Amino acid sequence: MYGNTQYLAHLIQRVTGGELFLIQTEARYPADYDATVTQGDKEGKAKARPKLASHIENIADYEIVFLGFPNWWYDMPMALYTFLEEYDLSGKTVIPFSTSGGSGFSDTVSSIQSQEPKAKVVTNGLTVLDSNVANSKFEDIDKWVKSLGLSF
Ligand SMILES: Cc1cc2nc3c(=O)[nH]c(=O)nc-3n(C[C@H](O)[C@H](O)[C@H](O)COP(=O)(O)O)c2cc1C
Repeated sequence: MYGNTQYLAHLIQRVTGGELFLIQTEARYPADYDATVTQGDKEGKAKARPKLASHIENIADYEIVFLGFPNWWYDMPMALYTFLEEYDLSGKTVIPFSTSGGSGFSDTVSSIQSQEPKAKVVTNGLTVLDSNVANSKFEDIDKWVKSLGLSF
C-alpha cells in the first residue's frame, strides 16, 4: 500500500523519468495512527534526528531533487532534517512537494532553504490535501511539472 506522499512521488517519477529514493527511518513508526501522531510531536519538540535506513551514494549525479514529505505538526518529519543535514544540495534545484490534512506547506519551504542555503529551492512546489491524493492523476502532475519550466 502506498502512503499519500509516496503515491505523489510515483506520479512525479513517471512524469519526469527520475529515480525514486524513499526516506525511511531505521526505526519504524507505530502501526497505530494516534501513536505516530504523538511520537511525531515528541520528536519535533526534541529536535530529534531519526537515523535513516538507506543512503544515496551518488548525490553529486543529480541536479534536480523533488523532495516530498507529509506535513507533521506544521513542519517536516524530523527525518527530513536528518536527510538535509546528511546531503549537501548546494547548486541543485530542490522542488518541495507535500501532503497534509489541511496545513499545506506551513513554513517548510523556507526551512528547507535555511537547511540548504546554496540550493535553489523553488517556491511553487506542490502540496495536496490527503483527501485529494487519490484523485491526483498523471495529467495533473504533468501540468505542474511543466509549469516549473525545467528541462530534463
Ligand atoms: C505525526 C503526524 C502529524 C501530522 N500533523 C499534521 C499537521 O500539522 N497538519 C496537517 O495538515 N496534517 C497533519 N498530519 C496529516 C498528514 O500530513 C497527512 O495525512 C499526510 O497526507 C500523510 O502522508 P503519508 O501518507 O505520506 O504519511 C499529520 C500526520 C501525522 C502522522
